[in-house]
Amino acid sequence: MPKTSSKFYVTTPIYYVNDVPHIGHAYTTIAADVIARYKRLEGFEVFFLTGTDEHGQKVQQAAAKLGISPEEHVDRLHQRFKELWTRLGITHSDFIRTTDERHKKVVREILTRLHDEGEIYRDSYEGWYCTPDERFWTEKDLVAGNCPECGRKVEKIREHNYFFRMGKHQDWLAGAIRDDERFIQPASRKNEVLGFLSRPLEDLCISRPKERLPWGIPLPFDEDYVTYVWFDALINYISIHGSLEEIRKSGFWPADHHLVGKDILTTHAVYWSTMLKALGLETPKNIFAHGWWTVNGQKMSKTLRNAVDPHRLIELFGVDVLRYFLMREVPFGQDGDFSHKALIGRLNSDLANNLGNLLNRTVNMMKKYFDGQVPEPAAKGEEDAPLAARARDVVAEVRQGYEELAYSRILAKIWELVDQTNQYIDKTGPWNLVKTEDGKKRLQTVMYNAAESLRTLAVLLYPFMPDSANSIVKQLGVAGSVEAMGMASVEAWGGLKPGGWVEPGGRLFPRIEDKEAEKILARLEQPGEAPPRATGDGPEPISIEDFMKVDLRTGKIIEAERVKKSKKLIKLRVDIGTEVRQVVAGIAEGFAPEDLPGRTIILVANLKPAKLMGIESQGMILAASNNGKILLAGFGEEPGKGIRVK
Ligand code: MSP
Repeated sequence: MPKTSSKFYVTTPIYYVNDVPHIGHAYTTIAADVIARYKRLEGFEVFFLTGTDEHGQKVQQAAAKLGISPEEHVDRLHQRFKELWTRLGITHSDFIRTTDERHKKVVREILTRLHDEGEIYRDSYEGWYCTPDERFWTEKDLVAGNCPECGRKVEKIREHNYFFRMGKHQDWLAGAIRDDERFIQPASRKNEVLGFLSRPLEDLCISRPKERLPWGIPLPFDEDYVTYVWFDALINYISIHGSLEEIRKSGFWPADHHLVGKDILTTHAVYWSTMLKALGLETPKNIFAHGWWTVNGQKMSKTLRNAVDPHRLIELFGVDVLRYFLMREVPFGQDGDFSHKALIGRLNSDLANNLGNLLNRTVNMMKKYFDGQVPEPAAKGEEDAPLAARARDVVAEVRQGYEELAYSRILAKIWELVDQTNQYIDKTGPWNLVKTEDGKKRLQTVMYNAAESLRTLAVLLYPFMPDSANSIVKQLGVAGSVEAMGMASVEAWGGLKPGGWVEPGGRLFPRIEDKEAEKILARLEQPGEAPPRATGDGPEPISIEDFMKVDLRTGKIIEAERVKKSKKLIKLRVDIGTEVRQVVAGIAEGFAPEDLPGRTIILVANLKPAKLMGIESQGMILAASNNGKILLAGFGEEPGKGIRVK
């Protein structure tokens, strides 16, 4: 069944589950959310997909480091993305994980089919392998002998593997990209892909031997291999809709937009398109590669601890401010440098001064001049027509902007209407009009028009700032939500019903005054201010010098007694050879005091003394808690007292 025009499908990349979500990830997901919300306003049935990419070497290694299974690891970690999307008001229709059975089933179906049709074959292979990137490179790809993508060392590997006949689609793909302006955007990126395709396109190695990498989807036709993580991951865009048959019937294929970062354009434009071609499916209508956010000109990375944490920004400035800033500051497709200062600047000028003030003064004047009721227009003036005309133009330009995903331009256009409405109020001067009877008639129209402009603005702003947009219509006394009003409600001027009661609701965007801003900036821009480490990351690596700062000593417990009124604490006297230390330990739930004297323990001997329930503790003993069972660290053989443990 051909795709009906009322269905719209947008995707984000599926994020590596190991990464701590930062503003780079939030960026694509917000961009997808904006277009999804906009299309819903236009009346489309929208499917918006995001998710996590959960197979591969890095996940396996990280899980092994933590001593847990990869399944347990990914079950924990993918939550971080779900939590962030909830906080950011993301309205995805579904969240796919590549470990979902529904996904794995379709991957197996596709592999079997391509293998049966001879599109996948087995061959021996020799190549340069980059373990961190899980990619093979040919000799000529290498840069100074290293991985061309990450610059790290590569290893020469010779093994049997399975290959997808990608190379044979080269001419078709180059033609398809060249002939369809919308297929790969922006144009500069399209040219990069064409450049890549001007060199011979090789077949794609789509397997990894299980003995080297067991964490993946086993090949249905050879259990000794698992599927290459990219081949597995790209299929998410269709596996969400079910089997190949069901995808065709869903009406959601081809996708309208795959939003991706510039670093993963080749895998989408080349691997994914040729995979679809081999399956007889259409290619997506558009793959849009956006740029990267840097921080002080540097790439965000775990090692540099400079990743900007969206949670932090939400706490400080609010969700809508973050959504607005990311979409407004940098044209979609270009790189940008993140700066808290620029964010505060936009919050103060665009949001608080221009938009917030417009709402405030309009609602307050209606309260003051009309007892809080939206007046009926009564007397026209020369200022009215230009405002209504501008609103109509802006609606048209916004619609056009979405065709090109020109988010920043769309917002700039919307602000033209904000500015013009502020000027309209300044020019007409309600505070003078109120002084005469004729003036009051004119004032009715002026206030109505200002409110109608704000209602239009709320609809246009909704995809970017949904909560603020709904708050604007509420303050204007409009019944119902912006979602229910839709874009159709702003096609013609005059949709606002007079007679509604305004509800002044306080400032939409509180200004951050200079002093406050300075404080925030000083705190945020200190080097080392890093996102909170998430569950599953494990502690930061430390150097041997750092470790050696901890003075671990053997000691013998000579006395033990319960701390009164405490269920957990035992007071110990521990002999560490040179002296006897008083130590308060939280081990009472695992040991009776009488069982402790005579035991050798390990003491952190240079911990600053601390008071626990008023009793000084001069060190800490090492213990482990296994499902609530407390075990003391010790030795198989008696080591003697006061020995340094390293
Ligand atoms: N798992 C793959 C995608 C598979 S899609 C079938 C992957 N994951 S990722 O987590 O590393 O990256 C996901 C997206 O985040 C990419 O589009 C990438 O460009 C984007 N970003 C990561 N860091 C970014 C910035 N600093 N700035 C903007 N986007 C960035 O690749």
